[in-house]
Formats: sequence, structure tokens, C-alpha cells
Amino acid sequence: MKHKILVSGHLTEDILSLLARECDVRANGEDRPMDRAALLEAVAGVDGLLAMITDGIDAELMDRAPRLRVVSNMAVGYNNIDVAAATARGIVVTNTPGILTEATAELAFALILATARRVVDLDRRTRAGEWTCWAPLLFLSREVSGKTLGVVGLGRIGKAVARRAQAFGMKVLYHSRSRLKPEEERDLGVEYAERDELLRKADFVSLHVPLSGETRHLIGPRELRLMKQTSYLINTSRGAVVDEAALVEALREKRIEGAGLDVYENEPLLAPGLTALDNVVLMPHVGSATYETRMEMARMAADHLLAGLRGQRPAHVVNPEVLSRRRG
Ligand code: NAP
Ligand code: GLV
Repeated sequence: MKHKILVSGHLTEDILSLLARECDVRANGEDRPMDRAALLEAVAGVDGLLAMITDGIDAELMDRAPRLRVVSNMAVGYNNIDVAAATARGIVVTNTPGILTEATAELAFALILATARRVVDLDRRTRAGEWTCWAPLLFLSREVSGKTLGVVGLGRIGKAVARRAQAFGMKVLYHSRSRLKPEEERDLGVEYAERDELLRKADFVSLHVPLSGETRHLIGPRELRLMKQTSYLINTSRGAVVDEAALVEALREKRIEGAGLDVYENEPLLAPGLTALDNVVLMPHVGSATYETRMEMARMAADHLLAGLRGQRPAHVVNPEVLSRRRG
């Protein structure tokens, strides 16, 4: 008998056909997440779930799905999943690291350039007819070349952003949970700094940590006060890594120069006051949203789900202890 699976997001026909060779597929055909009630109803009786970051995969959901054996998240971040609850129930959780690194780093760098050079603000003003002449002191912005970038969380994406910064002649400071070996720091051209020192020195602070108990509100009122008045905060990690209300206040009071955001605390809702500010560039959580990367992510997530259901080891397992327990 075929495995029953749910694909909770809208994927292309070729991925659904690939899954349908081995599974009975129920799929969300809409470009919006399944609501909670529909998701809870749809997981009853499924063996596998190809999940999106918009799905809260918690103990309640797992209890509604007693046959569930594999949750394949189509994302590298998996803060939407209660991994401990999955592990306790013997459910394998997988994610899609690596393939989205370059796309997300590109967006972080686009936000660095867009905020510093006021790309969106000046586009708006040009369209609104505010450009009436060339003048030496008009529409000034800040240069990126030669400035200091502070990367918080020097993992795959953080490193890819650091590599791009080299091309702009930037000095790169980093703060991360684990420090690189001296030769790795030299090869990447980065220098370790304690978090507060990084915040004090960086012209651009770019966040690349996963969301966890440790990183929730890593940047709050205190940290924003440490940053230079001429600096920019770039967040392509997870919204809740930043205290968004404190950020709105800091931007409104011009305690920092600007911010570039792709992620928000209560997506897709924006913090009150955010859209009224012209020193922030807002993107709708699209770090990995290139044609190339999203197709690869879907393919990888499908491969992980099929491997897990066949009893094979998927390529990227978040809770490998489930597999060793099964084997033991
Ligand atoms: P990664 O390779 O695991 O990198 C994360 C880095 O953060 C690691 O170096 C990790 O240290 C470090 N870290 C973890 N906890 C920390 C802490 N408390 N303090 C300081 N550093 C800490 O992950 P990645 O592939 O670069 O992805 C990073 C995150 O980006 C994802 O989790 C996701 O939330 C987000 N993301 C967003 C988008 C988007 O569309 N905007 C797209 C992709 C990813 P260790 O080396 O010690 O583990
Ligand atoms: C996207 O946000 C991801 O974590 O892949």
C-alpha cells in the first residue's frame, strides 16, 4: 500500500508527480498556508508531511497524526517544529541546508546596498517628482566600500555574506557560538569579536543565527543603543531574533541610520509604525525565493520525505537520534 502524505505548500507538478509514484498525495494548491484547523484535519492518517515554515508542527499536531514518521521541512530553519516532541515520538525531521545559502546571502547583501544607498527611498522620491535638479548635497547616502561588516552567526549564510563583503573591501568582524580556527579566519578574511564590541564597531550588522531560546531578542533596546548612530541592521534570519518594537523606536528616533528586513516577529504582520519609516527596507521573507533555489529546495524536501518513508537515511536529518534508536 502507498504511503499517505500531505504537502502543505503549493509545489510544481513535477515534484508532486515524483511523490505520487510512491505515495498517495494530498497537496495544498494555493499560494497561502493551510490554516491551523485544516492542517490538523489533513494530517490525521498521514505517514509523511512535507512542511512549510508557516506550519506550526507541535505536539498537538503530532498527536493528531499517530502514523506520522517523517516531517520534511522545506527550509533550513526549523524553529516552526517542536523537534523534541518529534524525537520523543520517533518522527524523523529533515531540513534543506546549503542549497539556499547563496540566494539568502545575495538578499542580505542587496539589503546592505539598498539601505546604505537609499535605493528604495530614492526610487520613491524620483517617482514622486521630488527630483528637480542635480545638486551636490542632495540625496546623499552612505558608501558601503571600505566599511566594517559585523556578521552575527558565522554559519553557511554568514560566511557567504562575509565572502561578498571582501569584494567591497570591507573589514569583517564576526560573533558566533563557535569560533573558527585561526587559518579559517585568515582564509575567509574575518576577525572574531565579542558581541558588544561587534555592535559598537560595525557599520552594518547582519544577523544569521537560527531562532532558538538563546537567540530570541538577541538584538533588543540595549544592543541597539550600542550600535553606531550611522549604522544599519540587516535581518534575514528570523524576525524574533530582533525585538521589533525596540527597532521601530530606534529607527524613528534615528538612533541607528537604517534597517533592511526580510523577516518579522509575527509574519506576515508588521510591527506598528514600521511602514511609516523611510529608513527601512522591507522584503516579504524571500531570502531563498529565486526560481533556481526554490525548485532545488522542493526537490530536496521531496527526496528527504521519500527516503525517510522508505526507511533510508535522508541526507539532512535534524534529529539523527531517532534513526539510531530505530536501528538499535
Ligand atoms: P547555520 O549554517 O547553522 O549557521 C548558523 C550559525 O549561527 C552557526 O554558525 C551557529 O553556530 C551560529 N549560532 C547558533 N546559535 C548561536 C548563538 N546563540 N549565538 C551566536 N551564534 C549562534 O545556518 P544557515 O544555513 O547559515 O542559516 C541560518 C538561518 O538563516 C536559518 O536558521 C534561518 O532561520 C535563516 N534563513 C532565512 C532565510 C530567509 O528566507 N530569510 C533563508 C534561509 C535561512 P555553530 O557553528 O556553533 O552551530
Ligand atoms: C527560510 O526562511 C529558511 O529557513 O529556509
